[in-house]
Amino acid sequence: MSNVQKVAVITGGSQGIGAGLVEGYRARGYNVVATSRSITQGPDAGVLAIPGDIADPATADRVIGEAIARFGRVDTLVNNAGIFVAKPFTDYTADDYAAMIGTNLTGFFHITQRAIRQMLVQGSGHVVNITTPFVNQAIAGIPAALANITKGGLTSVVKELAVEYAQQGIRVNAVAPGFIRTPLHSAEALEFLGTLNPQKRVGEVSDVVDAVLYLESAGFATGEVLYVDGGQNAGR
Ligand SMILES: NC(=O)c1ccc[n+]([C@@H]2O[C@H](COP(=O)([O-])OP(=O)(O)OC[C@H]3O[C@@H](n4cnc5c(N)ncnc54)[C@H](OP(=O)(O)O)[C@@H]3O)[C@@H](O)[C@H]2O)c1
Repeated sequence: MSNVQKVAVITGGSQGIGAGLVEGYRARGYNVVATSRSITQGPDAGVLAIPGDIADPATADRVIGEAIARFGRVDTLVNNAGIFVAKPFTDYTADDYAAMIGTNLTGFFHITQRAIRQMLVQGSGHVVNITTPFVNQAIAGIPAALANITKGGLTSVVKELAVEYAQQGIRVNAVAPGFIRTPLHSAEALEFLGTLNPQKRVGEVSDVVDAVLYLESAGFATGEVLYVDGGQNAGR
């Protein structure tokens, strides 16, 4: 096992936190399969890019199938693909609902099932969900009910799956970033969002990557949600 080159699957790998995770796992010597709708293959043969909508089960089939065909295994899945639509609850459209459920929850479901099936064959694996502290702490002025509904599911399922698969060598954790400087937020929004936590700043992609890689190394940690949020989850 020690000579095996490990493989990480990163969803939403084209930009922001996902692109940072691709680099972070490559720096650890992993082969990486990265997916998103717009992703394109780069020059690094250790990164296989597979385009597709994560809500589509066919994308999950291709990503996990190609990971096994090209690299032979799946050691880690990071469920990072996600969208955030902040609106007053009564303004959400049926399309907003379908998009957020599809990307954030349905996307998690299809690829995680397939990844865990492969991890069961191997007898080891690690799943990390990228969620949000909004699940525990709503913020007045940032209406985010659909983020709560969808990321709440991703947070909640961590303990369930951690317990369900503990005996099979599979760990399941989450990282809950606060407001992070990524293309998700405009520069003006980031200036305001940086005032909303006790540290009074936004985080960087590297803060989130460090937390995921910490959990990767932390073999006794499972069922954990690691908040990387400048104290947002702790209080105001
Ligand atoms: N930035 C923050 O402040 C923050 C805070 C808490 C949690 N998060 C979470 O962290 C994760 C990454 O966020 P980010 O800030 O890096 O966002 P981002 O820069 O907008 O990146 C989102 C990624 O998800 C992919 N994606 C979106 N919809 C998809 C779909 N239907 N199918 C496949 N891929 C899809 C995007 O690629 P394509 O457009 O090519 O599909 C992109 O690679 C998300 O789950 C987000 O909810 C972010």
